[in-house]
This record gives sequence, structure tokens and C-alpha cells, in this order.
Amino acid sequence: MDFEYHLPSHLLFGCGVVDRAGAEAAKYGKRALIVTGRSSAKQSGLLDRVIASLTEAGVAHVVFDRVAQNPLTDTVMEGAALGRAEGCDVVVALGGGSVMDAAKAIALMCVCEGDISDYVLRHRTPRPILPLIAVPTTCGTGSEGNGTAVLSDARTKDKRGMRSDCCIPSVSIVDPLLMQTMPKAVLASVGFDALCHNMETLLSRKCHPFAAQMALRGMELAARHLPAVYGGSEDREDWEGIALASTLGGMAIYSASVVAPHGMEHPASGLRDIAHGRGLAALTPVIYERSLDAAPEPFETIAKALGGKTAADCPDAVRRFLEQIDLNVTLSQQGVLEEDVDWMTENCFQVSQMMLQNHPCVLTKEDVRAIYRAAL
Ligand SMILES: [Fe+2]
Repeated sequence: MDFEYHLPSHLLFGCGVVDRAGAEAAKYGKRALIVTGRSSAKQSGLLDRVIASLTEAGVAHVVFDRVAQNPLTDTVMEGAALGRAEGCDVVVALGGGSVMDAAKAIALMCVCEGDISDYVLRHRTPRPILPLIAVPTTCGTGSEGNGTAVLSDARTKDKRGMRSDCCIPSVSIVDPLLMQTMPKAVLASVGFDALCHNMETLLSRKCHPFAAQMALRGMELAARHLPAVYGGSEDREDWEGIALASTLGGMAIYSASVVAPHGMEHPASGLRDIAHGRGLAALTPVIYERSLDAAPEPFETIAKALGGKTAADCPDAVRRFLEQIDLNVTLSQQGVLEEDVDWMTENCFQVSQMMLQNHPCVLTKEDVRAIYRAAL
């Protein structure tokens, strides 16, 4: 066995910790660029709450609120231009995975020359980026726990991950109570993403003991607490459980990597702008069905966490879990067409090579094409 584990992170976790955002930001700068989406943090009152916290700590602020689902490289360049023009010296991300990923890239482009696409392709950043305070408002991506950012290019439709230790947030503030305002459909989608990060870590060829421990715990927490919060629980233990599952999953995939379901989902959401977790829901059981023989042990572990008994139970155990959160969906229900299959297959082998290589079995282009068809 040999592996490398490296994750310098400063994480605050707990109900109410969001009110420490200002004090944490003040350790890093005097003028914050708040990166958020168009509406949710405003409607919930969270944006005002964080602004009050910053003001109290003596930190001025500018708001960039143009990040949408499947964030675009163009949006990143727009946010960075605002940050530079306003002389911001710290970035505060307030939102879900799209916002945090965009904020990482904005913090990078506030100090680096050129276009963000250059850095996405190079998979590295040349110098420290602006300090980033990440405040997740969803429980799925785990972006607060790693240095990965996934961005889409509107021209090529490529959805690619960028990965660098420079993009690990200086401080992540994980407050489970912030996640209670998510619409139910969003909760199901992001929560399933969190479960997938943990399951895929266990399946990855790069899985190692540190990542496996995080993923086992994250998987168990997501399996138990996602159906509870989806069912309407307001119990703190349930919200803490799903929030922790999300952060653990984000940390686990940073060194172990995700595998084929993520690799195949990115072309679908890059092309048709579908919600990441819904794309994963359509693809995961089909991919698992065709991969069982290659990794019987982790598939058995996953099946058991979801109420099954043997590795062979795993795909149906995932389907039963999806039924509990009303997420038994197909790709065609999300706008993917039969004629998209060839493009997605080719694109998968361009943008997701690493994820396919980490998958427990070899998937050929024919396999990938057949899986997309079966998931339509
Ligand atoms: Fe994901």
C-alpha cells in the first residue's frame, strides 16, 4: 500500500457558527468580495446576516451575485473583474457547490493573469490566490472541504474540474442550520451527490485508509440522515448528520477521486445544464450494475449501508434509496436526447479521463455509450 494524503484545512462546524464569518474574514482582509447566487441567500436573510457580521468586524464588502447552476468560466472572469476593480483582498462564498467553485476560481483570477480556462486545463495555480472563506448553504458538494472547482465553458460545453491546494478555502464555516431553507428537490439532488462522493471514494482505485474512513462515515451519515431531512425532520442531529456527510465526502474525494458516475455525469450536465445530483441519480445504478464484478467488496459495503446484503443488491439498493427521496429519474426526463449520446461519449473521454481511470473496471467507449442509452 502506498498513498499520499494532504489537506490543510481550517473548518468551523456547528449550528450558529455562520455568525463568526466576519471575525474570520477580518483575519485575512479589509474588503470582502461576497460571491453568491441570484436569490437564495437574499431571500433567506443570510446575505444580510453575513454582511452584518462583516461590518461588525470592520470588513467592508462588495456583492457579486451572478453565479448560477453549473457555473460558467465567463461568470468567473466577470466576478474577478469586479473583485480587482474594487480592490478586494478576501473572498466570501455564500451558497452551494456552484457558488463555492466559482468563488475559488474568482479568488484565483483576482491575482492571476490570463483566462480561467488556462488554469482549468493546467490543473494547477501558480501562486496563492485571495484568501477564501467558504460558507456552504447546501449539503452536497463538499467543496468546502477541498481544492476542487468544476466549471463549464459555454462555448465548448466542456465541464471540467480544476484542482489545486491553492483553492482550498482558508476557512470553511459549515453551519447545518443554513441548509434548512433548501427546496426539497434541491435537497434530494445535493444530498444524493454527497452520498455519491462517499460511495465513489470507496470504489476508486486511489482509495486509501484515510479517505476510506471518511467515506465510510460519510456514507453511513448520508444514508441515515438524508431520508430524514427530506421527510421534513427539523431535528438538529439529522441536519448535522447530512452536513457532515457532505463535508466528509468533499474531503474524501480530494485525494481518492470520484469515478465513472461523476465522469459520465459531467458531459450530461455540461451539455444540458441539468442538476448534478439528478444526473448522478440517472447514471449511478446503471454504472454500478455493469461494474459489480470488478469490486465486490466495496459494492457489498455500499449495499449494506443502503439496506442490502450482497454486492449484487447494490444497484437496486441505490434505486430504493432514490425512491425514498423522489429521485428515481432518467436522463431523458432531464432533457438529454438520444442524439446526445455520441457527443457525451466522446466528451466523456476528453474531460473525464482521470475519473474513468480510477473506476474499478475498464469502461470502453462502447460501454459508456451503452450506459448512456440505458440511462435515457
Ligand atoms: Fe459531485
